[in-house]
Formats: sequence, C-alpha cells, structure tokens
Amino acid sequence: MREIGFAIVGCGNIAPFHAEAIRDTEGAELVAVCDKDSSRAAELAEKFSVEAYSDFSEMLKREDVHVVNICLPSGLHESLTTQAANAGKHVMVEKPLDITLEKCDSIIAVCKENRVKLATIFPSRFKPGAAAIRNAISTGRFGKLTLGDVSVKWFRSQEYYDSGDWRGTWEFDGGGALMNQSIHYIDVLQDIMGSVESVSAICSTLVKKVEVEDTAVAVIKFKNGALGTITGTTATYPGLDARIGIHGESGSAVLEGESLVTWEFSKNIPGDEVFKASIGKTTSSGASDPTKNLRSEGHRLQVSNMVTAINENREPMVSGESGRKAVEIICAIYESSRNNGETVYL
Ligand SMILES: NC(=O)c1ccc[n+]([C@@H]2O[C@H](COP(=O)([O-])OP(=O)(O)OC[C@H]3O[C@@H](n4cnc5c(N)ncnc54)[C@H](OP(=O)(O)O)[C@@H]3O)[C@@H](O)[C@H]2O)c1
Repeated sequence: MREIGFAIVGCGNIAPFHAEAIRDTEGAELVAVCDKDSSRAAELAEKFSVEAYSDFSEMLKREDVHVVNICLPSGLHESLTTQAANAGKHVMVEKPLDITLEKCDSIIAVCKENRVKLATIFPSRFKPGAAAIRNAISTGRFGKLTLGDVSVKWFRSQEYYDSGDWRGTWEFDGGGALMNQSIHYIDVLQDIMGSVESVSAICSTLVKKVEVEDTAVAVIKFKNGALGTITGTTATYPGLDARIGIHGESGSAVLEGESLVTWEFSKNIPGDEVFKASIGKTTSSGASDPTKNLRSEGHRLQVSNMVTAINENREPMVSGESGRKAVEIICAIYESSRNNGETVYL
C-alpha cells in the first residue's frame, strides 16, 4: 500500500493531536506543517521530524502532500480549504466545517469541482458507544424514538478565551459554547436521531467576556417526530462530563463522557451483558480544558478512514455534507435566539 502524505496547517492547540494521529496510522505519513508564525511551525516540525513552512502556498507545491489537515481558527477554514482543494489536495477540516452554511457549501463545492475528498473532523462519531446506539436503532430495538438530548455543561476559563484573538468572536469562532464546544455532541445527536425539523432556543452570555454565547438551551423537533433538548455552556464550574441520552418506547441508552452509562431495553438480546459489563465512566475530553484529557485516538480513526477512502476511492465516513448538518442546526439555534425563541424550521 502506498504511503499517503499528510500536511497540517495551523500549529496551535489541536495540531499535535493530528500529528500523532497521522504518525500512528498505517499507510499515512506526516511530511510537513505550516503556521503563519514560523516559530510555532518549527516547534511542531521538530517534534515530528518533518519540514516547517510559514507560507501555505509553498507547502501546497509539494507533490508528496496528498492530504491537508486544516487546524485553523474556524472562520478561516473555507479560505485555506479552497486553496488546498484548488491545488489538488484532499482535505480534513477540523470542526466546525466553517461557521456559516454559505462557507460550508462553498467548501463542499470546491472539493467536488477538484475531485478531492473532504472529511469533517468529528472524532466522537467514531466512539464505540455511538456506533452501538446507531446499530440498536437500525435493528429497531428502541421502538419509536421519543427523546434525544444533549447536555454539555463544560467550563472554559477567561484565560482560554483570551489566549487567541479569534476565540469567542462571531467572525472567527462563529459562536461560543455551541459552535465551538457542544458541536461534537450535537453532531452525534443528529447522526443517531436523524434530521432535525425545527428548533427554538435562547442563548445568553452570562459570565465570560466574549461576544458569543457562553450558555444556551434549545428545544428541538426531529423529522421522525421525536423531541429533544440541547444544553450547552462553558460557564459551569468545574465542567461536567457531556451526556447524550437516546430514548424510545422500548429502550434507553445514555453516553456520558466517552462511556455508555445506561443500556436498557424491554427485550434483552445476546451481547447485552457485554455492553452492561463495559458500562463505566471515563472523563470526557473537553469538560474543563480543551486538550487536557484529549487523546488522539479519535483523530487516528478519522485519519485511517481518510486513507481507506483515498485508497478505495470512497467517501470518508464524516463527509463535508455530513459535517455541515451540525452547523445548520447551530445556525438555526442562533437565529431562533435572535428572534426571542421563535421556532426556526431547517
Ligand atoms: N476536534 C477537537 O477536539 C478540537 C479541539 C480543539 C480545537 N478544534 C478546532 O481546531 C481548530 C483550531 O483550534 P485551535 O484551538 O488549535 O486554535 P489555535 O490554538 O489558535 O491554533 C490555530 C493556529 O493557526 C494559526 N493561523 C492562523 N491563521 C493562519 C494562516 N492563515 N496560515 C497559517 N496559520 C494560521 C494561528 O496563528 P496565530 O495564533 O498567530 O493567529 C495558530 O497558531 C478550530 O476550528 C477548533 O474548533 C478541535
């Protein structure tokens, strides 16, 4: 199998997790990293013995770069993804795909035009608990789905927001507790429960000195008739594990942190005892700090999925279209909140 060459642009908080994930993936090789701050690029490059660039277009000239991982402030994703796709490179874009639907659509279109693969980074999609729930839904074990709820009661310090000019701004973060943090779980929720029909929401900035929301609550209706809620905040000390609850007329499953903590159905089937025995508790990665408990395993699974997609000419598991859905829900929540909680149809 030929090695697929990867490069990273943006050498901040999340970039080392990409570098580790690429290093640990069979068939993938990190060849270059780029940051407009050349010392930051050099530091990461040295750690992984690759070449450092401060000029993105120079890095794109390398023929051994087949995939570019976009690890930039969220509002810059579209412009550098467009450059990469126009240079014929496949792209893996950190969440959110970008911060408006127009920019997400532009990313999807430019990747199609250039016939390059596009993946949105959502490591939580690859967690075994979410896969088990999806499987139980597809085999009808929940019966009619009734409720799907997400609760992300996290904490981010003011220092975190002050650590980068783009954090907590509408222009480059695109939102706060929802667009930056809760989006991981909103994505999993819509992936498991299906498309959202409408939302009604209130968002507030209660504590943090930022433009965007630090606390938000939304009521949602899914197209399949089920109801749900989304609670997202970065203003609850000390930061609790994120929870996703999936409930139906004949079953309930709850993911907390990275673990299944509830797995109950009206009819047991062989294998349930394995799930129940595995029920435990691990702290979710971002509860109180963006990278403190983060491991690169989820990113590794996504890099590996991209390598397979390229080698077998398939769509990556979390495509651009798929990654766009969480942005659509969050933008609808913001619109509802701006209109005093009026229902917004997607
Ligand atoms: N999947 C996850 O769990 C996870 C976790 C954290 C973050 N993220 C996502 O990853 C992205 C980056 O977040 P982060 O926390 O890593 O941000 P960060 O620490 O601010 O890193 C971004 C880096 O990109 C550099 N940069 C900005 N514009 C550039 C340009 N035009 N060319 C080259 N480099 C440029 C920045 O330099 P300056 O500081 O000099 O501007 C900075 O070094 C965001 O979209 C975020 O939502 C995902």
